[in-house]
Amino acid sequence: MKVIKDIKTWLEIRSEICATVGFVPTMGALHAGHVSLLERSVAEVEVTVLSIYVNPTQFNDSDDLANYPDTLDADLAWAEKVGVDYVILPRYEDMYADGFRYQVNESQFSLGLCGGNRPGHFTGVLTVVMKLLNLVAPHRAYFGKKDHQQYALIKDMCAAFFMNVEIVGCDTIREADGLAMSSRNKLLDDRARLRAPQLYQVLTSAVDDHAARERLMQLGFSVDYVETVNGRRFGAVVMTAGEHTVRLIDNVIVPSTPGPIRNSTDTNMQREASAVR
Ligand code: PAF
Repeated sequence: MKVIKDIKTWLEIRSEICATVGFVPTMGALHAGHVSLLERSVAEVEVTVLSIYVNPTQFNDSDDLANYPDTLDADLAWAEKVGVDYVILPRYEDMYADGFRYQVNESQFSLGLCGGNRPGHFTGVLTVVMKLLNLVAPHRAYFGKKDHQQYALIKDMCAAFFMNVEIVGCDTIREADGLAMSSRNKLLDDRARLRAPQLYQVLTSAVDDHAARERLMQLGFSVDYVETVNGRRFGAVVMTAGEHTVRLIDNVIVPSTPGPIRNSTDTNMQREASAVR
């Protein structure tokens, strides 16, 4: 496994690779969910590339960025074990040599759910993912469906810009108690870790979004949103974990639960319909 920090070096290496390439972009603090993406890539293509880059432009909360877990040595050990061929660790000055003058914006679906209370979040995500996909030029790129809105927006971006890459969505990997694997789980103290699976439990069991919100508030979470779009219920909460606050997100399929009544002429909802697969 080669670890590369310099983008020019990486581009030279990439120009020599004729094999099929799979790509897993991450912000590090790898967990079993990331490993499942890497394993899938290793199984499906000839060369697997992992990127670890904590992208500042997608954080609208400086504490969240400052507290983002950094476990690089363990990440590299895990990547090597799984069979990753290349790890790229880009530097800010290379990724944003333009000073973030050029940005990828989506104007509808990115404004709701996780984009609602995090202005600019998805612009940061889409911009960095576009840059990373251009750098790595993979045949396939793998994304977890725990971040389903992100996955749908990236898939639609690649289609909108005729990008020659297959975006593969992979199922959420959960702890035994249902908690979706997430790098931010590393910030949960024991008490918060015990409470965290309640997000999943409530999203799967509540009769409707309103009931889910009420129950989560009763349980002491600060609720960012609970919203069902096309049979998929999305939720985000903030909880206190010792000295940190930690934001948890999840989504579940609720086929038997009718969502809010949609007006078929509502273009925003039509857009969501195309984005939420
Ligand atoms: O899901 C993530 O870890 C990040 O949003 C991504 C896709 C690596 C972009 O920074």
